[in-house]
Amino acid sequence: MKINSKVVLSTLFASLSLWACSPATSQSGSKTNTNNPNVSMPVTKPLYERLGGKDAIIAVVDDFVGNVAGDTRINMFFAQTAADPARLAKFKNLLVDQVCEATGGPCTYTGKNMMEAHKGMKISEAQFTALVEDLDKSLDKFKVGDKEQMELLGALGGMKADIVGQ
Ligand code: HEM
Repeated sequence: MKINSKVVLSTLFASLSLWACSPATSQSGSKTNTNNPNVSMPVTKPLYERLGGKDAIIAVVDDFVGNVAGDTRINMFFAQTAADPARLAKFKNLLVDQVCEATGGPCTYTGKNMMEAHKGMKISEAQFTALVEDLDKSLDKFKVGDKEQMELLGALGGMKADIVGQ
């Protein structure tokens, strides 16, 4: 799927998915309604599971951070992070926990809130989009389905106002 349509859709879906539920969930399969056995109830499978769980998220985050490091549109922001292996590892772990938690996984994000984390960076819309494109490349590489990609990008799109222009 092309990034432009995905970014547009993710922006549209952002408020919807945040309003609908957090962590992100989706209907898959069905079970019997105990009140009325004739009525089928949708079963919710967290996005976390549909992404492939923690190992899959670790692999995507690892690849994504590699993309960012090679992206001259935004890698200047991460010069100090990339130069310090302990700091880089901490940053990746925080990203993994954040994605894991936001998608309904059994993790707890312990980092700063997004406004605090990006304060003073003056990140532009274009730079935010560049980072989303870098993530999108990794999601494609790991063959994450379009539906799951849109849900994830939608959840992250909801953080944009706290990140851009701080
Ligand atoms: C949806 C988009 C984004 C998410 C989910 C995100 C997430 C995070 C997280 C979890 C942290 C760590 C917070 C902590 O240290 O407690 C962080 C730090 C940071 N973010 Fe973002 N971020 C996003 C967009 C961006 C963009 C667009 C840029 C720059 C172009 C950026 C630059 C940074 C930098 C430089 C740090 C500090 C890294 C360090 O401490 O070594 N972020 N971000």
